[in-house]
Amino acid sequence: MSTQQALTGSIITASPDLGLLLDPIKDELEQVEKFLNSNLVDDSPFIEELLGQVFRSGGKRIRPALVLLTSKASSTPRGRVGRLHIILSVLTELIHTASLVHDDVLDSASLRRGQETVNRKFSDKLAVLTGDLLFAQASVCLSRLMNPVIVGIYGQVLGDLCAGEIRQMRQQFVVSTDWDAYIQKSVWKTASLFAAGTQSAPILNLCTDNVIGDMKAYGLNLGICFQIVDDLLDVTGNSLALGKAAGSDLTHGVITAPAMFVLERNDSAAQKLTRLIKTKDVTTEAGVAEALEIIRSNGGIEATVDLARQYARRAREALTSLQPSQYRDSLDSLIDWLLTRTT
Ligand code: FPP
Ligand code: MG
Repeated sequence: MSTQQALTGSIITASPDLGLLLDPIKDELEQVEKFLNSNLVDDSPFIEELLGQVFRSGGKRIRPALVLLTSKASSTPRGRVGRLHIILSVLTELIHTASLVHDDVLDSASLRRGQETVNRKFSDKLAVLTGDLLFAQASVCLSRLMNPVIVGIYGQVLGDLCAGEIRQMRQQFVVSTDWDAYIQKSVWKTASLFAAGTQSAPILNLCTDNVIGDMKAYGLNLGICFQIVDDLLDVTGNSLALGKAAGSDLTHGVITAPAMFVLERNDSAAQKLTRLIKTKDVTTEAGVAEALEIIRSNGGIEATVDLARQYARRAREALTSLQPSQYRDSLDSLIDWLLTRTT
């Protein structure tokens, strides 16, 4: 891989077409979309407007797709999914979206999925309440599954999301290369929700513990890989393509893999980057530009790509116990799509 490829966010050359690999669940994804846009809690026009602001821009719907594909790949007969799987898919996206609405308040972000954030367009207070409303909608969905094991799994996810954010907040501008802590934070922030979805789908299908465990491992490793790529795109991507501000991790003092690989070098690049972070120079335009340049020219990107690939490999291994099907193929291609994504 050339540095140029990495800089444009491309990790491997052949990028699968997301539309094609989601084709086997096209009808179900449409049902999910309708469900997401229906209001389960309150149908007043202003609430409609708030939710419209959140869902108008779409989003990639990776989490619902993962739930549907694992549902179909683990069902008997293969490919059969019912209403409960649709609800599971919807609630997973609702929790994700709610957490982003809250995250944008914490980050004072103005742009999300190419649209103004709720906090920017309305206010922080209304954004907190909109996030809460989405969590409430997710709880209604969860109750409809009537499965206490899945309620427990998603309850844990809500705690994990908060734990991840709290950890990140407490570590701002702290120069650390504690990889275990970095991966743990990625699990809390991102992978736990992926794993909840991919694990709960075979639970609904009454699959064996082996299949459930493997699907959990797939979601967990894919989620860690997703977060590492997210951290990479913050360094290599551009705001227009991402639909959110690029470079914002460093500006906020959030130290992720691309920076950590440089910080653990015992050389002048590591020293310069440490100084830029500790003095909070990274909060200025010139400071963050200098820090990004240090990361790019000292192997931070290539090493991060390798790390993402390690977790991608683990996710792929976890798929081997599934019976061959077009759904398993899509779960496999999704790993490659994730490694090549630029948004
Ligand atoms: C995006 O991270 C944020 C998350 C993955 C999770 C945020 C979770 C919370 C704010 C807690 C949610 C609250 C409850 C009640 C469960 P990022 O800032 O790295 O990504 P970004 O660049 O897309 O903003
Ligand atoms: Mg954020």
